[in-house]
Amino acid sequence: ADKKNLSDVLNKPKLNKDDIIYLLNLTDEKDISELIRKADSVRKEYCGDEVHLRGIIEFSNYCEQDCLYCGLRKSNHQLERYRISPDEIIETARKISSAGIKTVVLQSGEDFYYKKEVVTNIIRNIKAACDVAITLSLGERNFDEYYEWKSAGADRYLLKHETANEKLYSALHSHQKLEERLTHLKYLKSIGFQAGSGNIIGLPGQTIEDIADDILLCKEFDCDMCSFSPFIPSPETPMKSIPPADLKLTLKTMAVARIVLKNVHIPATTALSTLSPEGRKLGLTVGANVIMPNFTPDEYKDKYRIYANKKTYDPVKYVEDLKQMIHSMGRKIGTDKGHSLKKNY
Ligand code: 5AD
Repeated sequence: ADKKNLSDVLNKPKLNKDDIIYLLNLTDEKDISELIRKADSVRKEYCGDEVHLRGIIEFSNYCEQDCLYCGLRKSNHQLERYRISPDEIIETARKISSAGIKTVVLQSGEDFYYKKEVVTNIIRNIKAACDVAITLSLGERNFDEYYEWKSAGADRYLLKHETANEKLYSALHSHQKLEERLTHLKYLKSIGFQAGSGNIIGLPGQTIEDIADDILLCKEFDCDMCSFSPFIPSPETPMKSIPPADLKLTLKTMAVARIVLKNVHIPATTALSTLSPEGRKLGLTVGANVIMPNFTPDEYKDKYRIYANKKTYDPVKYVEDLKQMIHSMGRKIGTDKGHSLKKNY
């Protein structure tokens, strides 16, 4: 691509699908550097230099779904399952808060063992004990549950659309449809949740056009948080032989997403740091402004095997190392809850 053309595209106030595809297809190193520089400047303009930390608790690896890519899928009988008790979840939330982190993410497989009231009580107890925002990431649940959890004080909900390609979505999710997922996402937004969506990059059969659609879907749904993470094969799934996502494509996707979506929170994901040892740092240079340290207690951690070789570490030490890294990049740690950049929460 000739230089002039690239700068013109990067300086357009609004990118269309063709522009996005063009940017995702860049191969020349100089062009990619220019794309990344632009993403970093958009990040600085709309999000500032703060990196927001979200402490995550993966409290159950039981899952009713059977997504072909995910190690937690119901058909994976090699995985030893666990459920963390409400008391231990609340205790872990306190540890997150004590580490100075102001968002607690409660994540699990789709596990209806944790009934509406159980989750409500966990939310109430955490909110009473700690000054934190709560993000839920529990998969597709019932609308009355979402409503009650919002009323109980939960702030945000993560429900990735995974892929905007309807056929691919159906092929990967035996019991679920894209349309259904989007209905849930809309409802979550309508009752006041800050909503997060996003995709998996490098799925078999996925095209650059599909990834452009993923970014545009996040735009259309006006998501507050958007996660673009690389596919990493899990040896305990039917997709064990599919190669992992291309690192460069992942970084380009994050950069283009930042340029298109502007005032959204974008994490440097755990999957990215699994794909590359420098992943988290790289992520922060291509538009990301969020990192989610894992506080799942040690005895369960290894069993939350969404994919292979997920990084494990001591969270408190990890947060200290993160602070150093972030400061060395001329950035700083967010000191408030790091709510959505879109409304006054
Ligand atoms: N590689 C990368 N991401 C995955 N997820 C599930 N399985 C994989 C995998 N093999 C992601 C999904 C889900 C999130 C919790 O983990 O996007 O939303």
